[in-house]
Amino acid sequence: MMSSAFKILVTSQKGGVGKSTLSANLAAFMRDQNMSVTMIDFDLHGSSSNWLSRAPSVGVVVQHHPLPLSMGGNRPLLEARLHLRRAVSCSDVVICDLTWTDSMAGELMFDFDVVVVPTSVSEMELATTAGFLAKHHWVFDSKLHKPPTLLLAPTRVRPEQMALNSFSKQRFPVSFLLAPPVLESQSARDSFEVGYLKDLQDACGNSFREFGKAVHSVRELRRVASAQAFSSSNKKTGFSHLPTGRFVTNGSLSERQSLLSRHRIQRVPDLTDPILACSLHEPRHAQIISDKSVKTTLFQSIVKRLVNF
Ligand SMILES: Nc1ncnc2c1ncn2[C@@H]1O[C@H](COP(=O)(O)OP(=O)(O)O)[C@@H](O)[C@H]1O
Ligand SMILES: [Mg+2]
Repeated sequence: MMSSAFKILVTSQKGGVGKSTLSANLAAFMRDQNMSVTMIDFDLHGSSSNWLSRAPSVGVVVQHHPLPLSMGGNRPLLEARLHLRRAVSCSDVVICDLTWTDSMAGELMFDFDVVVVPTSVSEMELATTAGFLAKHHWVFDSKLHKPPTLLLAPTRVRPEQMALNSFSKQRFPVSFLLAPPVLESQSARDSFEVGYLKDLQDACGNSFREFGKAVHSVRELRRVASAQAFSSSNKKTGFSHLPTGRFVTNGSLSERQSLLSRHRIQRVPDLTDPILACSLHEPRHAQIISDKSVKTTLFQSIVKRLVNF
């Protein structure tokens, strides 16, 4: 699919984690950045498409195409690809909202630049998320196809959970980027189908805008990586140079480092390629990002470090 559109899949197997909320609100946020945005709602319920249709219009193109998941075979995959292909031809950004089921072919993820997986930070849900990712590690670690960037998005995070070290306890079987958490709030619930999280003038609004910026950063990160891959394509094969998120991974947040306090990132030996900067698979250096307002800047500081190496 030759297109420069930025393709985002928001998915997880669990309901109620905030997929539709993130999809609709991310679409509105991206639209605010002066980009043409299409949001495709692949779910039967139509939550995210309803949100964008019922709340004041922000100029997002909204589509609702429930996938025929019960038909099995390749039908859901082919239909999803068809709708995606049409949308990318006329948008800068395409966001897809999909509740994942086992009847969906994992190959679909290769059609996206970013796979956003919202998750609460309860231990049980993180374990479920890890299980979901384990099933699809071959996508994110693929050397044959260009893998999407996996962005784990803590959602509906309550204030008292900010100090938990739940990410330290759960080991994730794949490499990923950790997005700034989106806070749980009454204001977010009140915005349901009537307004947008990007406009909230409270902590939740702040957290959401930081999340939106993080997603935006992934786009820049991949652009840089692609340019570098192109310039060194005669030397390298495979896609390991793409930012598949090789920094916060496999329990890299050590015991006493809480989700929102200190994060450890590690670099790979190949310092000629800044995008390969962080990997737990071949750790050489450990870098601690200071805990100064990590809550909102964690992602950006990682990106900055990556680009500045
Ligand atoms: N940040 C938040 N704070 C409070 N409630 C939220 C937040 N994000 C989502 N919700 C609520 O959680 C419920 C499930 O969200 P939804 O986006 O529909 O999840 P999913 O699409 O994963 O099923 C909705 O009632 C929604 O209003
Ligand atoms: Mg939903």
